[in-house]
Amino acid sequence: MKSVGIIGVGQIGGTLAHMVLQHRIPVRLGLYDVNEDALQGKVWDLEEASIIGKFEGNLEIVSSLEKFESFDVLVITAGRFRTPGMSRADLLKENSEILQSIAKKIENFKGVVVIVTNPVDLMARFFSDLHPLPSSRILGMAGVLDEGRMAYHIKAFSGLKGQSVRPCVIGPHSDRMVPLQAIKVGPGNLQDIVKFSQEQKNSIDQNTRFGGGRIIEKLKSGSAFYGPASACFRMIQNLLELQQEVLTCSIQMGTNEMIHGIESKIFFGWPVILGKEGVKKKVNPEINTQELGELNSALLALQKEYEEFFLERGGK
Ligand code: LAC
Repeated sequence: MKSVGIIGVGQIGGTLAHMVLQHRIPVRLGLYDVNEDALQGKVWDLEEASIIGKFEGNLEIVSSLEKFESFDVLVITAGRFRTPGMSRADLLKENSEILQSIAKKIENFKGVVVIVTNPVDLMARFFSDLHPLPSSRILGMAGVLDEGRMAYHIKAFSGLKGQSVRPCVIGPHSDRMVPLQAIKVGPGNLQDIVKFSQEQKNSIDQNTRFGGGRIIEKLKSGSAFYGPASACFRMIQNLLELQQEVLTCSIQMGTNEMIHGIESKIFFGWPVILGKEGVKKKVNPEINTQELGELNSALLALQKEYEEFFLERGGK
């Protein structure tokens, strides 16, 4: 049986564990948290819920990070989350230290790692600089979430079911993400089905870019977790090959004919097909000249951010 580990069982990790159990994903599910009491409490609650809801699975406490080395998929949610007024970059120092200590303890891990800890593109890149895993086995969770948010805003203006709309949001998981204009509904194009006003288009774009921030502003003491957990869940389903979809994940792009002047080690959101070995195939989206320009400048800024902060901290 395949194994999935979750490092950090706060709101996202706990909700994700609940989803994996509830959907009866046939895996061994191992949970870890630095706060042992919180971990025990969460596991009791989940075990009891799974009896009440009739979805008993294979849940276990993993008592030390080293024990994750034999797992197939690891989701790292550990780290601080944003509170009102904080940008994802404000989390850099604390979260990079957490990630560094995790990377060291699972040095022999050979599966696929999904990083949720923000700022996710920088963290995924940092992890790849610290860990011997091939970069195709290192993913950041972002695009699936941002696209879900965009679909929600499209739904509001179109009356279409959110699930039937397939937007694509590439680039960094920050206010500089690039929500692409070309949106599919099945094999058709959204723009042939619905005519949005310029104002509606701007609103969809803005609400997508600031989708995480507007939830934080309302929650006040935390950030979104149902959406992020659902996005991780979809990635896990694809990594276990229970589903096959094109999902946008933060990946190390390497070279790509569409992108110029960007260092090849940078991680950012791009559509991919996932499988047991991580990224199986990168899929080029339909992108116009203006979007390509926005993407390139967002990536240059991301690269600069990495160099400024990480090079003196073990990044390469
Ligand atoms: C968000 C966090 C997970 O966008 O980055 O809600």
